[in-house]
Amino acid sequence: MKEVKIGFIGCGGNANGHMNQLSGVEGARIVAVCDVQPNRAQSAAENHNAQAYTVHSALLERDDLDAVYLSLPVFAHGQPELDVIARGLPFFVEKPVAINMDIAREIEAAVAKADLITCVGYQLRYLGSTRIVRDLLQDIPLNMVVGKYWCGTGHGDPGAWLRQMNKSGGQLVEQATHTIDMMRYLGGEVETVYAMQANRVLKDTDCPDTNSIAIQFTSGAIGALTATWAYDPGDWSQANVLDIFYEAQMLNWNPARVSVRESGEWVEKTAPGPTIDEIFVEAVQSGDAANILSPYSDAVKTLAISLAANRSAQENRPVPVAELL
Ligand SMILES: NC(=O)c1ccc[n+]([C@@H]2O[C@H](COP(=O)([O-])OP(=O)(O)OC[C@H]3O[C@@H](n4cnc5c(N)ncnc54)[C@H](O)[C@@H]3O)[C@@H](O)[C@H]2O)c1
Repeated sequence: MKEVKIGFIGCGGNANGHMNQLSGVEGARIVAVCDVQPNRAQSAAENHNAQAYTVHSALLERDDLDAVYLSLPVFAHGQPELDVIARGLPFFVEKPVAINMDIAREIEAAVAKADLITCVGYQLRYLGSTRIVRDLLQDIPLNMVVGKYWCGTGHGDPGAWLRQMNKSGGQLVEQATHTIDMMRYLGGEVETVYAMQANRVLKDTDCPDTNSIAIQFTSGAIGALTATWAYDPGDWSQANVLDIFYEAQMLNWNPARVSVRESGEWVEKTAPGPTIDEIFVEAVQSGDAANILSPYSDAVKTLAISLAANRSAQENRPVPVAELL
């Protein structure tokens, strides 16, 4: 099996998770890691027997790389991706793909021109619970999709990039993007959003702490998303949950399982699924991206929905997603 030599740009919490996953993926080897914080690069390098860098362009000068992971704060996307693309390397990039559509579109165009394998970190698409819902709902018209992402991530250091609107885009862009992506993946494309936002708990940040969005799907189905990160920091049970209504039935999905009613009884179903890191490494090894469920161009559509919702709340009007695309 071909060895895939990987470089990392960004060595924060999320990147370390991928590095650990990759240690269990056959054929994957982390050879170089980069972070603008030298201690983070050094620590990741020691953990994975890799070389440390503090400037991504220096990492990209290596001639042995087969693929790159980018796990950066939302505001830092742009030049790193463009430099990876200029090197002709397949890349994995964490969601959300950018802080605004201009950056996302520039990278999307460069990826298309270079014809590269890309994979965006929407890992919920690969879960067994997700596959069960896709199989069940195939060809069945939906009437409503209701999502929620309630958690307590907004508590904490108000100076962190995550809690600054111009650095993260707020909860809808940075975090509830997972739920929005699952609403798209299981419910179809979104036509229009009409959002309201409030900031009544975490007043020390400029990000809304509470969001309510009415959604019109292209299919004619409707939906709603509620998201708050001002809730109990210790309770993740209400994050990334969907209720999907179809043919006088409903199912409840969360990452761990699907709950469906069969013969009048609620039944919980699970199934195994691959990790997103296995999928990406296999795609690079084989040169075949067929199993990648969220390539860059697809993830741009998810970003557009979050940004449309922020614009809708700011301008107090329904916003067609096409306005952003
Ligand atoms: N898919 C998921 O479930 C999931 C989970 C958590 C985080 N994420 C995403 O991962 C990304 C990173 O999140 P995090 O929590 O690890 O953040 P973090 O702040 O812990 O890590 C980001 C790292 O990038 C470094 N960095 C910034 N600019 C850089 C540059 N130009 N070159 C090299 N390094 C640079 C920072 O110093 C920092 O160490 C975000 O996009 C976040 O949304 C995804």
